[in-house]
Amino acid sequence: MRLFVDTADFDEIAAAVGWGVISGVTTNPTLIARAGQDHETQVKRICELVADVSAETVTEKKNDLIVEGRRIASWHENVIVKVACTPDGIAAGKVLAGEGVKINVTLCFTVNQALLAAAIGAYFISPFVGRLDDIGEDGIAVVRGIVDAYRQQGITTKVLAASLRHPMHVTQSALAGADIATMPFKVLEQMYKHPLTDSGIERFMSDYRKTQEPQALGQRSGR
Ligand code: G3P
Repeated sequence: MRLFVDTADFDEIAAAVGWGVISGVTTNPTLIARAGQDHETQVKRICELVADVSAETVTEKKNDLIVEGRRIASWHENVIVKVACTPDGIAAGKVLAGEGVKINVTLCFTVNQALLAAAIGAYFISPFVGRLDDIGEDGIAVVRGIVDAYRQQGITTKVLAASLRHPMHVTQSALAGADIATMPFKVLEQMYKHPLTDSGIERFMSDYRKTQEPQALGQRSGR
């Protein structure tokens, strides 16, 4: 499973890229607004750091979405255009996909919505796990259902588990068979963490320092 960060914060993306574990970024209008930058400028900057950068459309009608999608796709070869799972979004996505634009169908909450995305040759489908959990549904079960349906149908659209809120969502996405998990930077940081890793390092370092004390060095050299 590939790991993406779900942020438009340039410093966070640069740090995550530096760690060598992420291979893509997802953004949405909320995250762009939080970054306090103009959409085009920020997406272009992010595309210089990493491939597979999802950038979201904000118009609603099919023809407007097609024009907007073409414009966003022209920003950089690494851009993937996000359209919402609505009749207009899917119809526009079909036209754009036919022109060779990579499409990420977003705001997906059911297997049926994922089948609609597959029907237009979407590159990614983004089931929103946390938002389903928020309303008392099982977000990971939807990811698992999409993965199973795609497998049975031989569909090549990649399942991008989104709206992940904590490290267990990442583990569960992997076990459900997601192709990609996109997560806030904080969750990526949390993936590294375990108290036994911290205490283990502390102990190894302490023992190592003991071997560097003059007495220990003397003993080893037989003095
Ligand atoms: O990638 C989609 C994601 O940004 C939504 O996350 O936490 O706002 O539901 P959240």
